[in-house]
Amino acid sequence: MKVKILGLLENSLGKFISGEEISISLGVSRTAVWKHIQSLREDGYEIESQTRIGYRLLSLPDLLHPWEIRRGLDTRVFGSKIIYFKQVSSTNDAAREEAEAGSPEGTVVIAEAQEKGRGRLGRSWVSSYGKGLWVSMIIRPEISPARAARLTMLAAVAVAIAVQETTGLMAGIKWPNDILIGTRKVCGILTEMKAETDTVHYIIMGIGINVNQEEKDFPSEIGGVATSLSLCTGNIVPRVKLLQCVLRNLESTYEEFKKSGFQPILERWKELNITLGQQVTVTTFQDSFTGTAVDVLEDGALVVQGDDGIKRVFQSGDVSVRSRN
Ligand code: BTN
Repeated sequence: MKVKILGLLENSLGKFISGEEISISLGVSRTAVWKHIQSLREDGYEIESQTRIGYRLLSLPDLLHPWEIRRGLDTRVFGSKIIYFKQVSSTNDAAREEAEAGSPEGTVVIAEAQEKGRGRLGRSWVSSYGKGLWVSMIIRPEISPARAARLTMLAAVAVAIAVQETTGLMAGIKWPNDILIGTRKVCGILTEMKAETDTVHYIIMGIGINVNQEEKDFPSEIGGVATSLSLCTGNIVPRVKLLQCVLRNLESTYEEFKKSGFQPILERWKELNITLGQQVTVTTFQDSFTGTAVDVLEDGALVVQGDDGIKRVFQSGDVSVRSRN
């Protein structure tokens, strides 16, 4: 009902609509209309009311309410169920609980802020209120656990394309699956799964995109390496539109993966990547190795060739690109 009232307010395009008109067209009492208007105000919608004239919508909040995301979203699977939090520990944890409770593939868990956002390699992920997209999806693919990394690569391709489509910025993928604008990171992906030896029960695909942060919003440790889409474009980027575009691209890329296999996705990943061909240093928990990044394999591993010609294969780690003097 609340969403229907919002629809009527929006359709009247900044003009007043009377409480009576709303109550007749939706078949509810005027008291109920008033209560829903109050609730919309609590959600951040600015609604003017004038005695004996009615209500008028003045502005919408920049929040990721599920009904805003659903409006104009033409996906079938991704976003079929949306769970929204103003604040949550980690959307990956909330999505895992949902997956355990049987939520279907394509379920999206989203939060305005995360208290304990997680990154790769045990790092934390800064997720300040209303500034980014902190979102996790439930996927239930019929693949072996050994091939699960393909889903992360698929996500990186979908997000890079969505960023390009929404902002016009040239987004590149840095191995393993970071999205960069120039040399700075705007997005990270953390894929977690529940699996047995040869079956994946579900995958949680956690995506964090820095959207509307200013420089001061980043802690000093990551200030030089992280950026936001709005810092790169000079404009506020509409988060709902970006999320819809991410969901649309995830759905089409996932469909392609199921129909034609991983090869087309891997090719797209390679086209978008900015690591191959570069002099890199890969740092793992054990050691670090410098050489030329020469290939990425189907399981997502990076192949680096040392100056002695010997190749090493990395399943995980951190890459820094060495500048050539
Ligand atoms: C990385 O280290 O690059 C991965 C960062 C992934 C962050 C996202 S934000 C949404 C989801 N919830 C989390 O706790 N982490 C992921």
